[in-house]
Amino acid sequence: MRILAIGDVVGKEGREFLYKQIPYLKATYNYNLLVVNAENIGNLGRGITLKIYKELMSNGVHILTMGNWTWGEQELFSFIDNSNVIRPINFNGVPGSGYKIINYNNQKVMFINVLGKTFMEPNLDNGFILTKQLIEKEKADYIVVDIHAEATSEKIALAYYLDGKVNAVFGTHTHVQTADERVLDNGTLFITDIGMTGSSNGIIGVSKEVVLARFLNGLAVPKVLATGKCQLNAVLLDLDNKTIERINYYE
Ligand SMILES: [Fe+2]
Repeated sequence: MRILAIGDVVGKEGREFLYKQIPYLKATYNYNLLVVNAENIGNLGRGITLKIYKELMSNGVHILTMGNWTWGEQELFSFIDNSNVIRPINFNGVPGSGYKIINYNNQKVMFINVLGKTFMEPNLDNGFILTKQLIEKEKADYIVVDIHAEATSEKIALAYYLDGKVNAVFGTHTHVQTADERVLDNGTLFITDIGMTGSSNGIIGVSKEVVLARFLNGLAVPKVLATGKCQLNAVLLDLDNKTIERINYYE
């Protein structure tokens, strides 16, 4: 089972660059399932609309994971339960599910989305425990986890906690790909962060001017996404051969 995981797709620039690359990615990497972190995929870099969801599905994406901006577009409340969008498992009392099983050639592939608490949202349930409880009760042939978190230590900790119990753990959220991909002692594939897909002409997908104004003048200016040259960051997870390969394209 070969899974291609695409790092946080940011706004229209990211979406369009992704659509353009999919035919080449499919032909080159011959993956079975395509998972995309979509929490920044809306036009404002927050959340997802039904129109964008349909667009992604028709372009060959199989499953979408989210994160802290899951509800950035309120529309998601109305369609998440009938979609292949999964929201973090450690949200409490909201629609949707923290996992989904996709059937591929009579094999069950379970995807799980976890949100980090460190430097993020402290009022979440414990994603470590919830994930462990889930995989003890729900059976699947393959299990892949997206840990959307700020702290590298939290992502590595979850990977060790689940080592040997899931096939792969990959991190998202920081938008900068890490070069620490490896196979853990008990066979779980792991990378701290798979990076982002969108304009490389900004600061983690946001306009340079806007981010600099924050750092230089402390201005809380509205978020404006970067435009121009794009990048795509991803990993190919070969769950049977236990290999993990980083993939990067820059315009
Ligand atoms: Fe995020």
